[in-house]
Amino acid sequence: MPDLTPDLMPNLMINSMIDLRSDTITKPTPAMRQAMAIAEVGDDVFGDDPTVNALEQYTAELLGKEAAVYMPSGTMTNQVALRLHTEPGDEIILESEAHIYYYEGGAPAALSGVMCRLVKGDKGVFSAADLQKVLRPSDPHFPKTRLVCLENTHNRSGGRVFPLAEIEAIAHLCQAHDLKLHLDGARFWNACIATGVSEAEYAKPFDTVSVCFSKGLGAPVGSALVGSAAQMQRARRFRKMFGGGMRQAGIIAAGALYAVQHQRSRLQQDHTNAQILAKGCSKW
Ligand SMILES: Cc1ncc(COP(=O)(O)O)c(C=O)c1O
Repeated sequence: MPDLTPDLMPNLMINSMIDLRSDTITKPTPAMRQAMAIAEVGDDVFGDDPTVNALEQYTAELLGKEAAVYMPSGTMTNQVALRLHTEPGDEIILESEAHIYYYEGGAPAALSGVMCRLVKGDKGVFSAADLQKVLRPSDPHFPKTRLVCLENTHNRSGGRVFPLAEIEAIAHLCQAHDLKLHLDGARFWNACIATGVSEAEYAKPFDTVSVCFSKGLGAPVGSALVGSAAQMQRARRFRKMFGGGMRQAGIIAAGALYAVQHQRSRLQQDHTNAQILAKGCSKW
């Protein structure tokens, strides 16, 4: 038992506190570190890293898509998706507090040269009728609208889940207007666990989905962009252009693969704990 003198107590309190600033603070488990230590590696820019290839294949199959590309961050997978679906001068539509607009350092303008048109959602969620109101007719005065981005779960709304039925209605409208649909799914896994909707079903309405391994799943690094084989081949070009081509990335991909294979169901525990905490706090 340490001596609880006043100058020792702050350290003791910090060591026993649960850090709730973000789910990005999660650290790899011993089993995950072991998987990373023994990972087979190769040069991923040449497509030679077997562990990265296994992670990409596993993630694509889980989401029911043809291919995936591993990247260093969720910001990069989102921004590569924007660059993939648009040309400079185009317009993208997204919710007014979407991470892509709010927290990605102005990247849509800097990296893809696109304009952002915002839809005010209800805690991150908007409807097909809301989208319909901001669609522009084809007219040389207007930018060409190319892409709609949704976020599930919604970061700035405390993890609000986007209902599947609403997504399907939005996807239907996008198809009618020849618009692509991208999902910022940094916490896609949480939405699947919270609703019981499978990854493939939730991903189906989207052209591309970005998923993160480094949030609640606990991997140290990385995200994947998922979509058709042709789109992902093009995405590799933009990943390289944006500086995200990594070499022996299998070491970190092994952590991500371990996370997605072994830790997804554990998110239920996080949700239960968060609800207990929220109920407790609301009594104060
Ligand atoms: C909804 C959402 N999208 C994207 C990101 C970006 O992820 P990263 O920090 O890996 O760039 C985050 C990060 O917290 C996020 O919450």
